[in-house]
Amino acid sequence: MTPTPARLDLAAIRSHFPSLSTGTAHFDGPGGTQTPDVVARAIHDTLVAPLSNRGSLTEAERNADLAVVRGRAALADLLGADPSGIVFGRSMTQLTMDFARTLAKRWGPGDEVVVTRLDHDANVRSWVLAARHVGATVRFADFDPETGELDPAEIARHLSPATRLVAVTAASNLIGTMPDVRAIADLVHAAGAQLFVDGVHYAAHAVVDVAAMGADYFACSPYKFLGPHCGAIHGRAELLEELEPDKLLPSPDRVPERFELGTLPYELLAGTAAAVDFLASLAPSPGTSRRERLVATMTALEAHEERLRDRIERAVLGLPGVTVHSRAARRTPTLLMTFAGSEPRAVQAFLAEHRINAPAGSFYAYEAARRLGLGEAGGLRIGLAPYVDDEDVDRLVEALRHFPFPRR
Ligand SMILES: Cc1ncc(COP(=O)(O)O)c(C=O)c1O
Repeated sequence: MTPTPARLDLAAIRSHFPSLSTGTAHFDGPGGTQTPDVVARAIHDTLVAPLSNRGSLTEAERNADLAVVRGRAALADLLGADPSGIVFGRSMTQLTMDFARTLAKRWGPGDEVVVTRLDHDANVRSWVLAARHVGATVRFADFDPETGELDPAEIARHLSPATRLVAVTAASNLIGTMPDVRAIADLVHAAGAQLFVDGVHYAAHAVVDVAAMGADYFACSPYKFLGPHCGAIHGRAELLEELEPDKLLPSPDRVPERFELGTLPYELLAGTAAAVDFLASLAPSPGTSRRERLVATMTALEAHEERLRDRIERAVLGLPGVTVHSRAARRTPTLLMTFAGSEPRAVQAFLAEHRINAPAGSFYAYEAARRLGLGEAGGLRIGLAPYVDDEDVDRLVEALRHFPFPRR
């Protein structure tokens, strides 16, 4: 029997977020979460302590080194991964562009790459551009706009002995769909190709286990899960060893440093470790390791967010002329909606007047928004984060009830 997930102490969690004292309810987590005091403090403390470049001789060197070692270890615990496969960078987009260029060095005409229309453009265009540069072919796998599902069989349809890589999201930042990545990984590997998984939206809402998922590469961004603005990719160490990214001559050639151009943002790595430690502290857990505590927190968070999503969804479905585009069987608590006769931007502005942040747009899910027939305007996106509570949901539901939707 699966144990009942622990309940989260929302008041205690919220007390760690200084920005919540403004009274704004934040349903904009999928764009970036609010920052806990412990994360801001770790960034501050790293910057005001002696700090230089990595080394072992001086305190300043050791502090820089420790920030990197701890940052990698923390993220590895969150992803169920090996710290030596964690590559840090400015953002998921920057890292994915870099990895795409590096991987493409081994492709040429006749090779194929598969991307999906469900993905954020960072996991589409990076591959399209890299493939174009070397004359490789890109194939687009589609999702069903009616159900929001991305069927592994649709990926299979595009696989062949020519396939070198498949890039797929673990969760759509637009409509929340969580495709069956494990099933996709099995198909991709059976075809002799590699799998690059965009976990930016997924990692904020679910337990990640990169090996169980079958991800050869897994990308995420700490600022989506209470951390600072940076990005990371986990690559299987043996794959990273084979790759030859463009790099400076004197910079380290070992993995993962080989992929990290220039000086790392030590303070952001310290902030990332603090965010992971904070997450690990949220749910009471009998586990002793940080990984076990993270699994307990993410399991509790999934249950909490599922309950709030259900409350919001029920209320929203009663609004006149609403279409909820988030429909997949397995999905994050991210609801994209449009309203007959009202622009999503107008609803966003109305909510903002009530100090409720829920943005409108297509959120760089360029292909997905078009496939849904929404274009650039997209929809209103309501997303959850660990600090969103029932009172926030009450306020959101109440405000939406007062929006002057045209009666049909
Ligand atoms: C699913 C998804 N992938 C990729 C990205 C890009 O991440 P970054 O801002 O770290 O480049 C985002 C950002 O919103 C996202 O939601």
